[in-house]
Amino acid sequence: MKIINWINKIRGKKTLELNRSSGELNRICGEFEVDNWAVSRFVMDRLLPVVGIHPFPLNEQMLMVAAVCRLQPTHIFEWGTNIGKSARLFYETCTALGMATEIHSIDLPDDIEHAEHPHAKRGYLVRGMAQVKLHLGDGLDTSLEILRNSPEMKARPLFFVDGDHGYTSVQRELAGIVEHVPQAHILLHDTFYQSDESGYNTGPYRAIAELLRDCDQYRVVSQNIGLPGMTLLWQSQ
Ligand SMILES: C[S@@+](CC[C@H](N)C(=O)[O-])C[C@H]1O[C@@H](n2cnc3c(N)ncnc32)[C@H](O)[C@@H]1O
Repeated sequence: MKIINWINKIRGKKTLELNRSSGELNRICGEFEVDNWAVSRFVMDRLLPVVGIHPFPLNEQMLMVAAVCRLQPTHIFEWGTNIGKSARLFYETCTALGMATEIHSIDLPDDIEHAEHPHAKRGYLVRGMAQVKLHLGDGLDTSLEILRNSPEMKARPLFFVDGDHGYTSVQRELAGIVEHVPQAHILLHDTFYQSDESGYNTGPYRAIAELLRDCDQYRVVSQNIGLPGMTLLWQSQ
C-alpha cells in the first residue's frame, strides 16, 4: 500500500477511487486512456479478493475494468459464464461506476458436451445479482436474440468472447458481431501469440488478425505478454 500512498502524494490526490472520471482522461484526444492508478487500486481492493488471478491475471483484469470504464457500454454480453468470474468482475466494475449496464452472461445448455462446461457450478459467483442475467444457449446467437428484442434501446454493447477458443468458433463469433452489431466493442480472451514450437492454441489470435485485415473500424489495446492473453477491439465514440 505504501507505494500507492506515495503515488497519491506526488500526484496531489488524497484518494484513488474508481469513478466515471477515471475513464474520462483526454476524451478529446484520439487514444484509449484510463487512470491506471485508480484501476490498479480497484483491482487490488475489490476484485482480487473475489476472483483471484485465475483465469484472469492482473493485467487482464486491468484491461477488463478499463474497457468498461472508458467505453461505458449500454450492455455487456459475455460467454461463457463458467462459474461467473468475468461476470462478477463486470458486475463489480459497473456497480463501482454507478452504471446500469445490462450484463448478460451465457453458457451452453447442460446437455451439450464441452470440456470446460461448469454444470451445477454455472454462474455461482453472480447468483442473486439482479444486474446479471444468466442464459443458456450459444453465446453469439443468444446475444443477438436479446438485442433484437430490445429495439427501443440505442445499444452500444461490449462483447466479451471467452467460450470455445478454437479458431473456427472465434472467427464465426467475430463475423457475427461485426455483421449484426457493427457499433460494438469486442474484448477477447486467450489471444496470446507464440510461435509454433510452443504448441499453444493461436486460433483466437489468428481470427483477430484476419478480422483486422478486412475491417478498419477497430483500434486495438492488448495485454499479450504471456498466456492467456486478452485483446480489446474498440471504436471511437
Ligand atoms: C474458459 S471458460 C470461460 C471462463 C469464464 N468467463 C470465467 O470468468 O471463469 C469457457 C466456457 O465457455 C463455455 N462455452 C463454450 N462454447 C460456448 C458457446 N458457443 N456459447 C456459450 N458458452 C460456451 C464453456 O461451457 C465454458 O463454461
